[in-house]
Amino acid sequence: MDTAQTERLLLEELGRLCKPSRQAHCRSVAETAEFLARRFSVEPRAARLAGLGHDLVKDQDIGYQWELARRSLASEGMEPISDAVASMEREKSFADKIIHGPAAAVYLRDRLGIRDPGILKAVSLHSSAGHSMDPLSSIIFIADKMEPTRTYAGDREAFALREDSLNSLLKQALGLSIHWLNAKGYAIAQSSIDLYNALTMDKTRE
Ligand SMILES: [Fe+2]
Ligand SMILES: [Fe+2]
Repeated sequence: MDTAQTERLLLEELGRLCKPSRQAHCRSVAETAEFLARRFSVEPRAARLAGLGHDLVKDQDIGYQWELARRSLASEGMEPISDAVASMEREKSFADKIIHGPAAAVYLRDRLGIRDPGILKAVSLHSSAGHSMDPLSSIIFIADKMEPTRTYAGDREAFALREDSLNSLLKQALGLSIHWLNAKGYAIAQSSIDLYNALTMDKTRE
């Protein structure tokens, strides 16, 4: 299946599995991710597909999300996904909120035939962040938090997306995510806090 066919199938699945507001968010993440991919010399079509698919199963039953995610534990060569699931199993109290990342990666692989490990890793890690994020994973995380349909995203975020470095954007996106979760009274994944602290302390990566 070529990329255009995969995207068509993914859009159909998005319409079938997600509520309208989520579909709009995913399309916006895909646009933003594609823009950032071109800026930072990452494969734009991979960024687009990962953006469209990142929240694909978030509106599905939570038991089904866990069932999908745990399939990665039984498969060979699924380390970025299975490692994320294993660490989420340890964060039981709020893992239900972030398991949709690894679950979507497994769905994309098993149901849509997407095998690109970079796409699967980016989708898997978008809900928790982590030190193993590569440029594509960082782009999806940033696009998810800073895309223009987010209610808090304004001129400042739009300017940063056009001008700031990848590490600076990642730090801003983590900050927005931590601030939002804190304001809602939700727990924050340890991997997100650790990465935020590492980026904040490492001024050489601005
Ligand atoms: Fe998500
Ligand atoms: Fe999202």
